[in-house]
Amino acid sequence: MNIAIIGAGNVGGALGCGWARVGHRIIFGVRDLSSEKTRTLLAAAGEKTGAAPPAEAARAAEIIVLATPWDATGAALSSLGDLRGKILIDCTNPLKFTPGIGLELALGFAESGGERVAGWAPGARVVKAFNTYGWENFADPVYPNAARLRPLMFLAGDDSAAKTTVGQLAADLGFEPFDAGALRAARELEPLALIWIRQALSGARSPHFTWARLTR
Ligand SMILES: NC(=O)c1ccc[n+]([C@@H]2O[C@H](COP(=O)([O-])OP(=O)(O)OC[C@H]3O[C@@H](n4cnc5c(N)ncnc54)[C@H](OP(=O)(O)O)[C@@H]3O)[C@@H](O)[C@H]2O)c1
Repeated sequence: MNIAIIGAGNVGGALGCGWARVGHRIIFGVRDLSSEKTRTLLAAAGEKTGAAPPAEAARAAEIIVLATPWDATGAALSSLGDLRGKILIDCTNPLKFTPGIGLELALGFAESGGERVAGWAPGARVVKAFNTYGWENFADPVYPNAARLRPLMFLAGDDSAAKTTVGQLAADLGFEPFDAGALRAARELEPLALIWIRQALSGARSPHFTWARLTR
């Protein structure tokens, strides 16, 4: 598949490199094509990858991965032009930093970041995914265990076909897709990300901790 990555940082870089390794064609949508960061990423990602300005990358792809900092996400989306009909994988978390508390959600209960993203990208087939674990798990999703459990990848979206495609992309990396429901279920997946973030950032858990399914 042709996949554009908008936000070629920790998350976008790890996903792009992983999918390139299994044969997908990746185009990183970057604002500075000649930066050291872009050159290093392309060298690591290999032959099946390229870079282009964000709008050009999005135009050329059937699937767009959105992995920008929350504060930059509205502007990043509006720079991409018309995304009608495209699958838009929303990996973002609507985080804000509050002194005395630390990281917390800027949205919740009545709306999610995923639904806000869908509002910013009319007609795009938005699937919330790859938001509940740190990027380390996208770079190296291999968890040897006797029960052969695979880490779950939670998905939320209103378009079933788009969710199936994103589930296959998650499986390509080694995850077991888990359909959490309509895009509205992003309201549950974003707080789940905060549980992961607090556990991993505090050192209570390894950055490779994930959720797995023991029974149906
Ligand atoms: N870090 C994690 O482990 C993790 C895991 C799951 C989800 N998330 C979520 O995923 C998102 C990205 O996190 P990250 O850690 O990957 O961030 P990051 O390493 O800071 O990367 C963000 C990227 O977004 C790019 N960017 C910013 N504004 C842009 C725009 N207008 N157009 C195109 N690209 C733009 C930046 O490019 P420049 O270099 O040009 O500024 C940078 O490459 C966040 O919403 C985060 O909450 C993070």
